[in-house]
Amino acid sequence: MEVLRTAAQLSRLDQWRGERPLVLVPTMGALHAGHLSLVETGARMGPVVVSIFVNPTQFAPGEDLDAYPRDLAADLALLEPLGVKAVFSPAVDEMYGQPGEVTVQPGSRGRGLCGGDRPGHFSGVLTVVAKLFGLVQPQVAIFGRKDAQQCLVIRQMVEDLRMPVSLVDGPTVREASGLAMSSRNRYLDEGQQERAMCLSQGLNTAREMLGNGERNRAALVGAMLRELKPADKIEYAEVRLVPNLEEPDEVSGEVLLAVAALVGPARLIDNLVLDLAEGDVVDGFLLGDPQQWSKA
Ligand code: PAF
Repeated sequence: MEVLRTAAQLSRLDQWRGERPLVLVPTMGALHAGHLSLVETGARMGPVVVSIFVNPTQFAPGEDLDAYPRDLAADLALLEPLGVKAVFSPAVDEMYGQPGEVTVQPGSRGRGLCGGDRPGHFSGVLTVVAKLFGLVQPQVAIFGRKDAQQCLVIRQMVEDLRMPVSLVDGPTVREASGLAMSSRNRYLDEGQQERAMCLSQGLNTAREMLGNGERNRAALVGAMLRELKPADKIEYAEVRLVPNLEEPDEVSGEVLLAVAALVGPARLIDNLVLDLAEGDVVDGFLLGDPQQWSKA
């Protein structure tokens, strides 16, 4: 596994450009089982490059940029056995140059949800993802479905700016308690971890209601808000349509159930993407089914 630190070193990736697609898994490090499952999915498609870069521009002032866990050696030790070909781990000044440089602004899907609570967040995400796509030039990029709005904002960027990359999403990996895996879970003590289960419980309650035929958005939101009471601060509980995040009174088609809350020192998010189209409530995709590529 090669560890590449500069843009110039990325020419080393050419050795893996061939019949099978070069797959990029962008991360900010502090890797957990959720990231590793994306890497495993990628490895079934083609040679995998993982980027590890704690991107300063997606943290709002006062957020946890300085405290964000960084342990490159531990991350590399987790990736090596998975057959990853290369890790791109640049310094900040390799990714960002002069003040006043071009940034990418989100379209309509960046409004509300995390876009409302974290000003500038999605512009930071899109700008760094656009840079990573330009530098690595992957054919496929994989993102975790846990960051649902991020997936949809990136999809809109790729479609609107005609970027030559295919996107796929991987499912959220959960602790036995139901808590979605997140690099920020390590900020939680035992009691906080227990209270953090209210996020997945809220989502599961709404899923059950959808399974019983409930389609009224306000009723679903109300049920999620009730479940979120153990959190220290509820940031949002929302039901939106995929991919454009509309909020109709009655939901149908592909639906995103999304919650965000503060528990102790951690801002946690979780979601379910559910397809109601066939009558049953089944898990949906935000970007694309990795299976398509594995079969190719
Ligand atoms: O999801 C993340 O870890 C980050 O937002 C990403 C996509 C790597 C961009 O910094």
